[in-house]
Amino acid sequence: SMNEQIVILDFGSQYTQVIARRVRECNVYSTIVHFNTPAAAIAAMKPRGIILSGGPSSVFAPDAPLPDKTIFELGVPVLGICFGVQLFAHFLGGKVEKGLKREYGKGTLTVNDAKCALFAKLPKSLQIWNSHGDKLTKIPDGFKAVARTENSEFAAIENREKKFFGLQFHPEVVHTLRGREIIANFVHGVCGCGKSWTMRHYVDQAVEEIRALVGKEKVILGLSGGVDSSVAAALLHKTIGDQLTCIFVNNGLLRAREAEVVREVFGRNFKLKLQYENAAALFLRKLKGVTDPEQKRKVIGRTFIEVFQAAALRAGKAKFLAQGTLYPDVIESVPIAGNPAALIKSHHNVGGLPKNMKFQLVEPLKCLFKDEVRLLGLELGLPKEIVYRQPFPGPGLGVRILGEVTPARCEILRNADAIVVEEMKASGLYYKIWQSFAVLLPVRSVGVMGDERTYDFTIAIRAVESQDGMTADWVKLPYDLLEKLASRIINEVKGVNRCVLDITSKPPGTIEWE
Ligand code: XMP
Repeated sequence: SMNEQIVILDFGSQYTQVIARRVRECNVYSTIVHFNTPAAAIAAMKPRGIILSGGPSSVFAPDAPLPDKTIFELGVPVLGICFGVQLFAHFLGGKVEKGLKREYGKGTLTVNDAKCALFAKLPKSLQIWNSHGDKLTKIPDGFKAVARTENSEFAAIENREKKFFGLQFHPEVVHTLRGREIIANFVHGVCGCGKSWTMRHYVDQAVEEIRALVGKEKVILGLSGGVDSSVAAALLHKTIGDQLTCIFVNNGLLRAREAEVVREVFGRNFKLKLQYENAAALFLRKLKGVTDPEQKRKVIGRTFIEVFQAAALRAGKAKFLAQGTLYPDVIESVPIAGNPAALIKSHHNVGGLPKNMKFQLVEPLKCLFKDEVRLLGLELGLPKEIVYRQPFPGPGLGVRILGEVTPARCEILRNADAIVVEEMKASGLYYKIWQSFAVLLPVRSVGVMGDERTYDFTIAIRAVESQDGMTADWVKLPYDLLEKLASRIINEVKGVNRCVLDITSKPPGTIEWE
């Protein structure tokens, strides 16, 4: 449950969210807070332990991010990672010196003190991963060194009495091979947390919270069929039943069978109130003659708002609007190296709907990471087809048909894309990669089929591997799969006589073509 939590102070490390996820993988709830959160506010969260993240700063910097120093007096175990170790030294009487060169990359940790709880049940020698500039040269009062590396006598330090631990290396990254166990030792062994953060417990808790917030009021939700809105819909339906109305807009730019799957799963199986808005003709009419990518996105966005607003009115007066906002969207990140632009991530899910739609928000997923949302979806009985589906852009096939979007071109792309999805699933690769889809290029080239000359469109196949969509690598699909894709698309999809493979990574390419 959330009653046993670990609080993570964020000093701007690129790995802060990874730390939070590692803790949650131990079935322990974790929350990220800004580095300068007052100790009283942290105490009020009743943490079982505190983790100080790494960060790009040096304690020597005049604008170094420093925590409220009384966090060390809360009587709560503290694990300082990297920059976190410097903070122990800064506040508790140690010494840090500016490193001449950055220690970066793999190293070997040798544990000197087998009794240190962080290394319980671990071997004496461990592969770890470093990324730090400054170096601890005198350990803080009350601490002793419990492990060393080639370059540092003080790679891990401990104040056993106070349960303070400092690690110069990064236990949260996968290159620290047994880092998960080090974190598990901290949260279970040192902090005494159980394993109560499970999606089953989460459902019970969320149901209570939603009921308390919503009461007898009505809620509407824009169901896109994507993972987040689907899981939010299932959770709300379980909690408030018919007080929830889901609005599903068919914009005519959906993939094959997409609308049917949503109607089957949510309408027929879950029996939730599903308001199906078929606005395909309207969208396609508005897209007529539009070829500029940004213009297309604007037209689609505006039309969506128009349709959704009208649909919401017809759904009856609702006080609440539900959204599938996730935890990474609400964490206020610390500016990296003084870059104010990184200060607050915009709540981009909230954007889109006009201000005059005065709803109160219900965001039942806003403390979950994506992988947790998937587990929750399975717990709520959603099929794998929805829970593990690949991301799909809001403007849909509209940004995968270059140039003008017409009904005929939508039909061609839908058929080609269905073949890509089917073959990717058959090969077992669909659920292993980030995205795989077809793109329609409105250039014609000459071909020959049977005895006839053809002059038709080209389909590009795009398959990428990614962690978060921010960067991506193209996937080296097996030749026999590529061969099958090309031959099926060209033979089965009328209007296509050529198939090409997109081998562009991101950057410099984007994942979508428009
Ligand atoms: P790009 O093309 O920018 O895409 O590399 C990164 C990821 O975001 C998805 N994407 C969108 N998702 N609305 C969305 O909900 C959009 O307008 C949109 N545009 C791109 C894209 O599919 C990829 O996963």
